[in-house]
Amino acid sequence: MSERFYVTTPIYYVNARPHLGHAYTTLVADVVNRFHRMCGQETCFLTGTDEHGDKVVRAAKEEGLSPLAYVNQISELFRNLWPQLDIAFNYFIRTTDPAHGKVVREVLQKIYDAGDIYFSEYEGAYCFGCERFYTERELVGGRCPDHRTIPEVIKESNYFFRMSRYQDWLVDYIHTHPDFITPVRYRNEVLGFLREPLEDLCISRPKSRLQWGITLPFDDQYVTYVWFDALLNYVSALGYPAGEGFKKFWPTVHHLVAKDILKPHGIYWPIMLKAAGIPLYRGLHVHGYWNVDEGKMSKSLGNVVDPLELKSVYGADAFRYFLLREMVFGLDSNFSERALVQRINSDLANDLGNLYSRSLTMVHKYFKGIVPKSEGAPESSLDLDVQLDASKALEEYQKAMEGFAFHKALIALWEFINRINKYIDITAPWELAKKKAQHTQLRLVLYNVLESLRMIAGLVYPFMPKTAQVMQEHLGMTFADGFQTFGDLKVWGKTRPGTKLPKTVTLFPRIDLREEQTKGGETVSAKEGPAPEKPEISMKIFQQVDLRVATVLAAEPIPRSRSLLKLKVDTGEERTIVAGIAESYRPEELLGKQVVIVANLKPVKLMGVLSQGMLLTAADETSCALVTLDGPSEPGTPLA
Ligand code: MSP
Repeated sequence: MSERFYVTTPIYYVNARPHLGHAYTTLVADVVNRFHRMCGQETCFLTGTDEHGDKVVRAAKEEGLSPLAYVNQISELFRNLWPQLDIAFNYFIRTTDPAHGKVVREVLQKIYDAGDIYFSEYEGAYCFGCERFYTERELVGGRCPDHRTIPEVIKESNYFFRMSRYQDWLVDYIHTHPDFITPVRYRNEVLGFLREPLEDLCISRPKSRLQWGITLPFDDQYVTYVWFDALLNYVSALGYPAGEGFKKFWPTVHHLVAKDILKPHGIYWPIMLKAAGIPLYRGLHVHGYWNVDEGKMSKSLGNVVDPLELKSVYGADAFRYFLLREMVFGLDSNFSERALVQRINSDLANDLGNLYSRSLTMVHKYFKGIVPKSEGAPESSLDLDVQLDASKALEEYQKAMEGFAFHKALIALWEFINRINKYIDITAPWELAKKKAQHTQLRLVLYNVLESLRMIAGLVYPFMPKTAQVMQEHLGMTFADGFQTFGDLKVWGKTRPGTKLPKTVTLFPRIDLREEQTKGGETVSAKEGPAPEKPEISMKIFQQVDLRVATVLAAEPIPRSRSLLKLKVDTGEERTIVAGIAESYRPEELLGKQVVIVANLKPVKLMGVLSQGMLLTAADETSCALVTLDGPSEPGTPLA
């Protein structure tokens, strides 16, 4: 492993707000970055925004803003989102930064001087939606594969990058560097593209058609177009060619992208680097797509998943864990809030949370919260196996992390968590605690469990940094930068006997079905399958439900939520209720309405608002109707 590590995300277009897909790649970069720091490497993590082009000019016009005012706004949304997901990048690049423009012009000039950029007239099929020419082969039935429109044939003089000259060299390079593009399916896909003759790349647009871009250094009537501008961010951010960052971190660079931009990164970029005399990147790591309801996420379908909304309901760590555990890096995955809730309950609350709280509760109960000494007890093979399993888990985790197989790293870790849960079940410390003679054994068992938890907390860190911190603090450790090094984890016995542990906390509360149904305003279970069968209940149980008449005093939408409204209601006293009815009712229609609420439901926080009850509705997948009264009634009247 080299001493330095540089990881990048794509720079995102500013014509859309950040969504789940952007969040995933950026989260992966954060996890990778944290892991490599734990391994003792000096790291750099770059993300940013791609801000030039026609689409941006159009979007700005629609908002009545200048292109610069518009890109400033959206770029800020991206930059501000990442810290909220505990993503700690080192540098945020914008293609409108003057320093970036300078590098782009320098590299263009260098390649132009070397004879790899030429001027030529081009006639081709141009899709205005995509802002690009299509070759015959790329069109589907003569239509743009994205917009399904018939492209216009236009003739234009432009500058071209002579990629064809480098085709054989690139094929050879990929063959001799098996880790250059991973997973292997994408390496094969690139080799597949390269089996066809490579066309030269059009890299400019005349200013008569597009002004919002970087002017070519050798022709001020043209701006550079898309990839020559965007891809160079990876070096301009480091201060190429003379900057310290560039000297330090290039070429130990690993690019993360999704499959949509495989070709520019797997073909254009290595050739651009080669032509500019810059060493090639170490690795390109390509992941699949997050789909929603088995289909593409898209604004027009209204199914774009907002990462902040999920974070505010479930917390950043659970969201991070879910995305990294659920997607097999390289393959597509389907996002559903139900699957997220299931993973929180089973993996986080049950497996990890239970292990953590039952272990620490025992240390508090049997040893007044003081880490016991393990010496003096005979170690059975069961005890010794804990250490063996720990080093096996570490090894598998490390191998998986280095290979960008995050789900495998988490599987290895969870196998270990469950192994320790079993160790506790078999050794039954509560039985050992009953007899004084067995207390040496009890100390050994609980020491082993605490050591295992120390290791688990360390391995959890790249994925769930806040949880790792809480776990470590409650295991009596503090770290200036929040993590144990991988080296620390490889040494068994670092937990110091005699340390007084703080009182335990619950890491992940279970989300019960009722909450699950209204989390984030989604009727999760109602949407995705038949309602669970309800058991017969007695009158006594039914009478425990406190149903009351409530008059709506005020109603307003909840920011960033499609379906939730915040209501103030009068039930004899004033209370707040968050209801998932925004898709069926406008706030103003509700004022003065008398509705029925469950008044003794445990309060729950939804989108940051404490809901003190629930409205009764008749709801199906598409609509919902409020249960109202036949005639006026005093607010707070109980329903019999
Ligand atoms: N600006 C270019 C990239 C230039 S990089 C030198 C661009 N921008 S983008 O905003 O369209 O971002 C594409 C990237 O966003 C994908 O490669 C991926 O990282 C992320 N994702 C966008 N939608 C996604 C999914 N539905 N699923 C997973 N990731 C996706 O292309």
